[in-house]
Formats: sequence, structure tokens, C-alpha cells
Amino acid sequence: MNRKWMGSFLIILLLTFGIWMFFNSPFSTSQQALPAEVKTDGTSILDIGNQKAGDRPVKTFSLTAQEKEWQINEDKQVEAWTYNGTVPGEPLRVTEGDFVNVHLKNELSVPVTIHWHGMILPNQMDGVPGLTQDAVQPGESFTYEFIANDAGTYWYHSHQHSSKQVDKGLYGSLIIEEKDPAYQQEQTYMLDEWAVDQEKQSFTNMGGMMMGSMSGDGEADTKQMYDTLTVNGKSGKAIEPLQMETGETARLRFVNAGYQQHRLVFPEGSIEVIAADGEEVVTDEPSANMLEIAPGERIDVAFTRQGEEAEVIGEDPTTEYDRGMKIPVVSEEKADSFSYDQLSVSSASSQETGTSNGSEELLFKQTPESDVTYHMDLSMGMDMGEGMSFQINNKVFPDTPLIPVSEGDVVKVRITNSGRLNHPMHLHGHRFQVASKDGQAYENPIVKDLIHVKPGEEYTVYFKADNKGEWLFHCHDNNHADRGMVTIVDYQGVYSPFKLDGEHNNQP
Ligand code: C2O
Ligand code: CU
Repeated sequence: MNRKWMGSFLIILLLTFGIWMFFNSPFSTSQQALPAEVKTDGTSILDIGNQKAGDRPVKTFSLTAQEKEWQINEDKQVEAWTYNGTVPGEPLRVTEGDFVNVHLKNELSVPVTIHWHGMILPNQMDGVPGLTQDAVQPGESFTYEFIANDAGTYWYHSHQHSSKQVDKGLYGSLIIEEKDPAYQQEQTYMLDEWAVDQEKQSFTNMGGMMMGSMSGDGEADTKQMYDTLTVNGKSGKAIEPLQMETGETARLRFVNAGYQQHRLVFPEGSIEVIAADGEEVVTDEPSANMLEIAPGERIDVAFTRQGEEAEVIGEDPTTEYDRGMKIPVVSEEKADSFSYDQLSVSSASSQETGTSNGSEELLFKQTPESDVTYHMDLSMGMDMGEGMSFQINNKVFPDTPLIPVSEGDVVKVRITNSGRLNHPMHLHGHRFQVASKDGQAYENPIVKDLIHVKPGEEYTVYFKADNKGEWLFHCHDNNHADRGMVTIVDYQGVYSPFKLDGEHNNQP
């Protein structure tokens, strides 16, 4: 045996053992292709909650899932999967109260779906293959219909094999406008990251992943996997400048469609956070100039143009990770004459997150008594031969314990993170009230559908079980979800007629 080979073998062996000791977690059960223990009695989810247009205005869209060579900038091109040929997919805009009808056609060679992230809608419209529908096969179609009740920033994405499909570009924005919009100007920015210059590192590249996650940076795995950051599908100089005159204010809607958090720095004094996850927030203090946005999260700001010279909104340079995420802000007059390279992102003075401000409308006036309580512990483990696994209560989906609820219950979920990576946990079909962090009650609680739980943190959230069905609760770093970090809010008295895997290859 050659010595060099022996050497690497030993290193890998030691590394693997060390890592195993480090996580000190049992080998996780191997992922089985078994459906979760969802009941099969009661009413089918297909027989509940149907919505009709009635006399609402109907907005109809067609989205075709198709392959497209997508130009990220002058020198970077990817084989993208898109809705209607662009990344992000066609932006959908409707007005509150509209009845929305979306015709999905699948022209890809793999099955797809559409999930309406943040929308409170009938369970059968939620787009989760194997739970709320069968994945839409190549050549087939599916129509989604729902009422767009609450104005705000939402987004849509495939929920079939999400770790891959959202990565490849199957996402877009869904904006529900107020009947009487408060801002005349607005823009939507969808943030994402790509592996262009390198093959996407997989979790089977254990050495690197594990080493990364031990670094104490909760985003280490994602940073290793991807090399190019995009804003609305473009990177670096290809990002379209925001055209505004000094003193003007616009509503900027940020959606993080990727799997890593971003810290966007704005010119000092230019922003006020106005909504998080589609819910309006109350601010009493002037906002910070850095905004941290978790994967899957939406944050809206009112942005006021400060100086006369070109300005920039960009990824915090101290993270040494800007990799092309800079949005120039210029006046019409200077639109063709500014120099991108000279736009330097200001230093961050203080930071806001999705939980920095309380919500204007709460679900509960005060911390309620709960009918159901669930402790959700997030951890990491290893699957020998498969790399890392991401667990809820030491299990990987579909073996994770369900959250059993009855209609009308107040459900309390205490989420703890005992691993080393960040986990943005997202609940489908409901909003929850974040009541406390690390045991400390929020003075101004916030209503969201995603909470970013970092290593060592603990959050308590409450929601009202008022939307019967089978709903996912999962990590929105879809690479983690893919490796197990998913569970289901399972209502009494209803069942899903769908199955994981099977002939439709349902992979939520
Ligand atoms: Cu953005 Cu399970 O969803
Ligand atoms: Cu995660």
C-alpha cells in the first residue's frame, strides 16, 4: 500500500472518529422510505377547506417549469430550472382579497410542485408532494387556487426535492398589495447563492462539512457549498441598480430564497423595518443599518435615499463573504456613469433581525395557556456512509415525532438548538407568535412563520390550530431538511391520501 494513501486514510479515519465523538450523538437511524405515521381515518384533506372565487376578482397566472441556461453575469452561466424561463420565476402580484388561480405546467424531466410560502391557504393547495398532493409529473399540470387575504411579501417555490429544485432556481415572489398602497415606489429583491465555479459540495464530503461546522460559524456548511451570491438571479455588476432620487422613499421587499443568512448593510439612517414574514411591525426606535435575513425569511423596509452620490446596499464586507452581493442606488441622471467597483458598503453600526421589532397585530394578547406542548430539539448526527444528518428530537424524517393537534388547540412549541449550525424553522399554513427567546419573554412579541434558531438558542412559539390539515414544520436550509430536519403538524380527524415516494416519486 502506498504511503501517501495510507496517510490520507488514517487522517480520514481519525477525522471521522473525532467528529463522531464531537457530536456525541448516536448513529442516526438510516433514512427510510416510509411514510410518517399519519393517520388514515377521518376526512381526507381533499374534502376540506375548498375555496371558491365567489364575487372576488380572479387573477390567473400560468407558470411553466422549464430548463434554461441562465446568465448570472458576464462570465457565469448555470443550467437553471425556472418558472417561465427566468430566475427568479415570473413575479406574481395580486391585490388583497383577490382569488388567485395558478396553472402549473411541468416541462422538466423531473416532477415538481409549487408551495406558497407564508400563505394561509387550504391544505390541499400547499404544494407538498406526498402530503398534500402528488408531485406533478413531466408533461403534466396542476392548478392551485386560493384567496389572497393578507397583504404582504410572500414567495413561491417547488417543494419537490427542494434541496435541489430551489437551488436550481424554481422560486419566485408573490406580492399581495394593499388595496391602498402606502408607498408609491417599491422593489422586490430575492437573495440566493449558487455553486458555479465548483461542483456543489455534498454532505458526503464529510471531512470538509464537519470541519466547517466545528468552526463555530453557524453558516459554515453553506459557505463551503456555494461560491456566488445573487440578487434577483444576478451577481456583481449584473445586478440592476435601484433608481431613486435623493429624499425619495421606497418599499424594499427582501426575500431570502437561499440556504444561508445574509447581512445587508445600508447607508446610515436610510431604513426602517416595516414588515417581517408579511406581518407589519411596530418600531419605536430608529432602525439599525444592518439587516440580517435568515433563509426563507422575508423582511420589508422603507428605504430613503440619503446622499447625492451613488450609494450601495450590500452584504456586510466584514463577513469576507460579499461574493458579488451589492445593489447600487443611483439617481436617474447618474444611472450610466457610476462605477460599481467604487461603491463601498458602509460599516455596520447596529443590526436588525426578523425578531427585532414586535408585530402590529398579535395572535395572542398575552402568553396563552397551551393545550398541546411540544419540545423540538434540533441536533446533528451522522449517517455512516451518508454524511451528516439533521435531526428533530434525535430522529430524521419521516421518523421524527409528529406534533398532534386538534382543531382549536393552542399549541406551544419550545425549540432548542443543540447542534452547531443555524436552523431557520418554518411552519406551513399558520403563523406563530414568538413569545420568548432563551427564557426571556419579548416585550413586543412578533408574529412570523419562520424563526432562525442558532446554536444554543431557545425560542418559545405559540400558534392556534385553526387550519385543519397536515402541515410541515421544517428547517428552511433545505439541505438540512433533505437530511431529516422535518416534522408534521398532524390534525385529528383528517388524513392525507398521499404517500411519500411511490410511483409519483413524492419527495417533500
Ligand atoms: Cu418555503 Cu416548506 O417551505
Ligand atoms: Cu437547518
